[in-house]
Amino acid sequence: MEFYASNTPLLDWTGDALIIGLSEDALPLSGPLTELNDRLSGLLQDLIDEVEFTGKDGSSAITRVGAGASIRKLGLVGLGATAAITPETLRRAAAAAARLAKKDRCVSLGLSMPLVQDDAALTTQVLAEGASLALHQDNRFKSEDKSNGKVNLEQIHLLGLGGHDSSLHTAQAICDGIILARELVSAPANVVTPEALAQAAADIAATHGLELEVLDQEQCEALGMGAYLGVAKASELPPKFIHLTYKPAGTPTRKLAIVGKGLTFDSGGLNIKVTGSGIEMMKIDMGGAAATLGAAKAIAQLKPSAEVHFISAAAENMISGRALRPGDILTASNGKTIEVNNTDAEGRLTLADALVFAEKLGVDAIVDLATLTGACIVALGDDIAGLFTENEDLAAAIATAATAAGEKFWRLPMEEKYFDGLKSIVADMKNTGPRPGGSITAALFLKQFVTSTPWVHLDVAGPVWTEKENGYNNPGGTGFGVRTLVQWVLAAA
Ligand code: BES
Ligand code: MN
Ligand code: ZN
Repeated sequence: MEFYASNTPLLDWTGDALIIGLSEDALPLSGPLTELNDRLSGLLQDLIDEVEFTGKDGSSAITRVGAGASIRKLGLVGLGATAAITPETLRRAAAAAARLAKKDRCVSLGLSMPLVQDDAALTTQVLAEGASLALHQDNRFKSEDKSNGKVNLEQIHLLGLGGHDSSLHTAQAICDGIILARELVSAPANVVTPEALAQAAADIAATHGLELEVLDQEQCEALGMGAYLGVAKASELPPKFIHLTYKPAGTPTRKLAIVGKGLTFDSGGLNIKVTGSGIEMMKIDMGGAAATLGAAKAIAQLKPSAEVHFISAAAENMISGRALRPGDILTASNGKTIEVNNTDAEGRLTLADALVFAEKLGVDAIVDLATLTGACIVALGDDIAGLFTENEDLAAAIATAATAAGEKFWRLPMEEKYFDGLKSIVADMKNTGPRPGGSITAALFLKQFVTSTPWVHLDVAGPVWTEKENGYNNPGGTGFGVRTLVQWVLAAA
């Protein structure tokens, strides 16, 4: 599939499907659309009348154009009120258009959309993002390729956006990262092991020229990473501590760290997940690490002026004779001791040592992403991630990045009083508090491993996976977090 930023006016475009984004205020038809309607003998107005198309956000329609015309199909995608159009509206509209064209077996699509924020470069970027993410199909684990023999959508022409090829490159880099994250999350735990995550990091390093350091178990022991290694103990698969670094040419403007939870499978450990708890979905427990590596792949291509460290303490939470026992006490790499009252609260144990490692790098800010708590899904549902920080600037920066990215976060409080729930008789803290406020105590636990660096924790347990097609997402891993991270790094630099 190729994108073309084209100067061809919609009236002159020839190809399979011409799809036009129409806001509610664009009706009744006027200007070039009246002319298009006349040239098509009133077909555009007929389509509008037939399906009672009003331009409502999320609506769409498509019809066949008679023989002899310069296009084969004519489609409409509703954008809602003009004043309410955001970059995300256009991502979703482009996704809807690409899906319509694909379903109707079109090889080429001409897409005509209004500008968002009066910015042709941004418009080009978000249209390309929406369409390419919608068209991403992951059939790696199917024995037969059902698309074989069918025609494929091969060209998308973004009409009236000629000259914005660098925005196509930006979109391509971001989608590369998102698709990597999606595929890492969707792949099962017998494929994406800690070693495979490290290999994915090695591939990024080799392709895009980043530095990579992978610490094995002994090296982590030497650094005193007892919390992380406690989690990894029972598995037959060795832990891999991944540290990928992007360095800009010249002196970096800022130094940033992104830390992702990388549990390639979370059985719960000896506090094993019971039937009905979704144990079969726990391959997604490396969604934070997937977003971290996805962001690395994008950032390596976009080359911002900040230095960025991408970190994941990858492991598998399993049971065996070597397993961590409930009640065991672990010592993290900052010397703090943890009574593990629940082996299923393992993500925070791995993150503890990863955060200590990140802070030692002397970075200006740390963002962690983790599929950390079921409680966050209970609170915010599947589409919204939790955001925890005590740093107002960082909260604002992530919120701005997230809005531009079209990803949803909701800030939850770091209520210090709730740390009482983690008090231990024998150690500095327990790893698990009471059920109420479970996402908050998890964030307060992480806080014990960051001293002074501005830090934000993102609980992405809900949005890293979707059962249903939604906008540009297809069932499976969503790549959630990548766009916000990339946006944040570009803006922070
Ligand atoms: N990986 C899970 C959280 C999770 C749940 C992610 C559902 C995605 C979907 C995490 O390690 C976990 O097991 N959390 C426990 C914490 C509890 C033991 C305090 C939970 O949420 O139940
Ligand atoms: Mn768990
Ligand atoms: Zn987990």
